[in-house]
Amino acid sequence: MNPKLALAGAGEVSGAIDPLQSWWMPFTHNRRFKAQPRLIESAAGAYYTLAGNQRVFDCLSGMWCTPLGHAHPGIVRAVSDQVQRLDYSPGFQLGHQPAFELAARIAALAGRPADRVFFVNSGSEAVDTALKIAIGYHRVRGEATRTRVIGRERGYHGVGLGGLSVGGIGVNRKMFAPMMMPGVDHLPHTYSPQHMRFSRGQPLWGAHLAEDLERLVALHDASTIAAVIVEPVQGSTGVIVPPRGYLERLREICSKHGILLIFDEVITGFGRLGKPFAAQYFGVQPDLTTFAKAVTNGVVPMGGVVARGEIYDAFMNGPEHVIEFFHGYTYSGHPLAVAAAHASLDAMIDQRLIERAAELAGVLEDAVHTLRDEPHVADIRNLGLAAAVELEPLAGQPGARGQRVFARGLDEGILLRVSGDIIALAPPFISTEDEVRAMIESLRRTLRAIAAD
Ligand SMILES: Cc1ncc(COP(=O)(O)O)c(C=O)c1O
Repeated sequence: MNPKLALAGAGEVSGAIDPLQSWWMPFTHNRRFKAQPRLIESAAGAYYTLAGNQRVFDCLSGMWCTPLGHAHPGIVRAVSDQVQRLDYSPGFQLGHQPAFELAARIAALAGRPADRVFFVNSGSEAVDTALKIAIGYHRVRGEATRTRVIGRERGYHGVGLGGLSVGGIGVNRKMFAPMMMPGVDHLPHTYSPQHMRFSRGQPLWGAHLAEDLERLVALHDASTIAAVIVEPVQGSTGVIVPPRGYLERLREICSKHGILLIFDEVITGFGRLGKPFAAQYFGVQPDLTTFAKAVTNGVVPMGGVVARGEIYDAFMNGPEHVIEFFHGYTYSGHPLAVAAAHASLDAMIDQRLIERAAELAGVLEDAVHTLRDEPHVADIRNLGLAAAVELEPLAGQPGARGQRVFARGLDEGILLRVSGDIIALAPPFISTEDEVRAMIESLRRTLRAIAAD
């Protein structure tokens, strides 16, 4: 018995509690995991060390959140110093200077220094906050009928009830159907294997799919629609890259009808496409941007929403004795997260890591497309330092082939993330060109090995 469990009285409840049973794990096959646990011991740079001293390459930068590599010395130092100076600071009616400075830095990095930043603790909270800002904005301007929000099929916007409602992944939604926000509609997703299999970068086909927003406006009337939310690149459902012209057209239609455009940049924010934000990469500016993950290099949870200055100003018109926005979290602007974020931004700038991501993007693109003729490969797509390899599912068992690739990949020294039968790749920005190529060669061996099994 672990002595700490005994101290907590666990030993008295049952002589033999297996601590592995106690954690109800997120988005995990709990019974399978507990029958065959895979434990991570430590991490440094672009590698994890698993139990048994096995070293594996971090093919998805954590869960898209550790692009600067693990145990980055600057971040470790900043967080250790901060915890000794100010470990917690209430964020309601009080503030600490570095949080204000971080907000200004993030707005400047987004190329929009007049914007305002609201801090939260995760991507899910960022999405729900952005939806509330959008609906509140129209209300404070006297357009309280604009309450409808439009998401997109295959979108992932976290697991809050707002994010689930605008999200477009059936399995995530069906158990909670009665709890969904009312008045939500969805645009079609933009993935069409027939028109875009094996595209390098943005597919040429599909800009017309944005016209569906006009259809929804005609159906519901613009006066009922507050916002449209999309991931510029759909990450969690397998790196679905927007067709050329699609985001531009969404922007035009939103502007025409007074609808706010929200970019969920939880994955694309902080350099994944080789620019600070996807908005800069595509040259399309949203009204609200959500971020999380890489802002602190995953070291301390943090998320946020960047809002256009006019949106903030609209909230500031009421009487001064009334709080302008009844929303916030105990840990909004947490000093440790703020310290980790400043240190991450310092590293991105001093080590030119966003530029580095842009340089590695071409290496990844060339390498990943060499997998085209490997067994069961149905599609390969990429943008920036992100790619997906989609496999044909095993007959009658969707996801089973993906699971086999994941397990076999560990033997080949790569920690992969699979969603269903899609393998997503987003290596750390600190990777070398050789490491990116080696990752693809390990994946090649993995695909051949499972085909031969
Ligand atoms: C685009 C997007 N939005 C929101 C989220 C939710 O973030 P979190 O898991 O931090 O709540 C994710 C997570 O992967 C995401 O990819």
